Amino acid sequence: MTGDHVRIDVGGTSYDTSVVTGTEGEQGIDIRDLRSETGYITYDPAFPNTGAVRSEITYIDGEQGILRYRGYPIEDLCAHSSFVEVAYLVIYGELPTRAELDAFATHITRHTLLREDMRRFFDAFPTDAHPMAILASAVCGLSTFYQDHYNPHDPQDVEVSTFRLMAKLPTVAAFSYKTSVGQPYIYPLNHLDYTENFLHMMFAVPSEPYEVDPDVAKALDQLFILHADHEQNCSTSTVRMSGSSHLNIFGSISAGITALWGPLHGGANQEVVETLLRIQQSEDDLQTFVQRAKDKHDPFRLPGFGHRVYKNYDPRAALIKDAAHKVIDKLVGDDPLFDIARRLEEIALADDYFVERRLYPNVDFYSGLIYRAMGLPLNMFPVLFAIGRLPGWIAHWREMISDPETRINRPRQIYTGATQRDYVPIDQR
Ligand code: ACO
Repeated sequence: MTGDHVRIDVGGTSYDTSVVTGTEGEQGIDIRDLRSETGYITYDPAFPNTGAVRSEITYIDGEQGILRYRGYPIEDLCAHSSFVEVAYLVIYGELPTRAELDAFATHITRHTLLREDMRRFFDAFPTDAHPMAILASAVCGLSTFYQDHYNPHDPQDVEVSTFRLMAKLPTVAAFSYKTSVGQPYIYPLNHLDYTENFLHMMFAVPSEPYEVDPDVAKALDQLFILHADHEQNCSTSTVRMSGSSHLNIFGSISAGITALWGPLHGGANQEVVETLLRIQQSEDDLQTFVQRAKDKHDPFRLPGFGHRVYKNYDPRAALIKDAAHKVIDKLVGDDPLFDIARRLEEIALADDYFVERRLYPNVDFYSGLIYRAMGLPLNMFPVLFAIGRLPGWIAHWREMISDPETRINRPRQIYTGATQRDYVPIDQR
């Protein structure tokens, strides 16, 4: 490799190519023509070495623990901004003026209601259905109401779908919850802000007034900010990949929600608290759980620990741990699960296994404890992640659809199955 020129010698052929350099200096070898020129493909299971896109949305430096949306450090956004402002930033690329922010918030507020006939949809699920399953189905189901307005190539359709998704996801989430607890649906209230409105739809009942606690709303708003985007993670890549087939944005985001649900991704916040509860009820001490997490023959891993990209403390986890102190102090006082979590972190961070592998708490380690202190049920935790992540999914879908380099996503494979063989009639097998 010289300058930005790269030569790959493979199978007797020389392939000359160049390096693609990002604004923060990351470098990738451009291998777009590798197969057509050499007959070879790259083999990179789970894509740790593959840059699938150029993106302007989010920058992560996993070695240093840095996360920025559109250039702005998340610490600053968390301290000074609101979730709706951050959503605007992530989706449109710049911080809004006052007028732009007001207009964006108004567009969202005007779309928060669901079509009345969609209410029946929630009744069809069993009351113990996981709300992520309902959320993914309902978001895909939303597309059925807007079939004339989801053309991925029509900027007006994309814009109104953006408002609809931002507006309706909290309503769908709250309706899923109300279904699961057998309570009447609470309709959106336009005078409340985005996060207050969500809390109101979750916790109000028609029979008495409900006041949103401003500290709770602020803490949840900050959690949404911290989840707003995380570049090419599993769910976002799913959104981009399904959208690359020119699927409408509702279908693509429904696919992203499903991918997020997995316990190795956004389902980890639920897993963490379930694990902490198991530890609390167990006769075993914390060391036993840490030993189990290290044992290759035991499938147990410490949920909320480790990350593909961060090899340092996840900057979101640091902010969330700080918020957990405040929220838990105010709402619960002493939370034995929070104590267990902090001791678990201490033990893990002093253990060679975790040190050598550079495993730190990730975004999910402390967030569930805050949600729990707020009175949110465990199976809603991944749904909260989804509400926070929505601006990122929308931004990536929009970037994908307008990028002239986008083609239908279609990885190759190294086939390892049987070579050609003759069909054997059933009575001769
Ligand atoms: N507990 C114990 N060991 C772990 C953990 C953990 N939580 N995470 C990783 N390791 C070990 C692996 O076993 C592996 O060990 P080895 O080198 O001896 O084989 C090593 O650390 C490297 O881990 P990988 O699994 O190769 O890392 P990968 O990048 O593939 O996976 C992941 C990342 C999925 C996040 C993983 O760390 C994990 O399973 N964590 C727990 C689930 C979790 O918290 N997920 C949420 C992630 S953040 C998000 O998506 C929102």
